[in-house]
Amino acid sequence: MDYTHLAVQASEAKKHSHSPYSRFRVGAALLTTDGRIITGCNVENSSYGLTICAERTALFKAVSEGEHSFTAIAIASDEDSFTPPCGACRQVIYELAGNIDVVLTKKNGRYITKKAIDLLPHPFDGKNLKKTRRKKPR
Ligand code: THU
Repeated sequence: MDYTHLAVQASEAKKHSHSPYSRFRVGAALLTTDGRIITGCNVENSSYGLTICAERTALFKAVSEGEHSFTAIAIASDEDSFTPPCGACRQVIYELAGNIDVVLTKKNGRYITKKAIDLLPHPFDGKNLKKTRRKKPR
């Protein structure tokens, strides 16, 4: 699959990064099954733990706009090495988008593609909650 355009969109989204603390700019571009692209960037906070990554920004934007079916997400930073999603984002990618293609890009635009499940082996998901889930809310 050619993800050149998606990689460019992730790099463009990086320009909106709000990262005054880490100075590490990240952009993400999420592709829906009907061809729409939803972008996101990292948005940092002086209370560091409130920072949100680019991938989760894109995913939460998409879901909040009614999108639920995705084929790929591309991730871009300013690094010369392929930028992978952090552990928290791997969990959220798998939860909200399933086993999609995760496109890791380099600053020069080159990319490699991984399946989400290969980045998050033996995932925790909704199926693990079934036994304890209540039938009716109290
Ligand atoms: N960051 C992302 O946006 N995505 C990742 O998958 C890794 C980390 C951001 C969070 C923080 O703003 C900065 O990169 C440094 O960790």
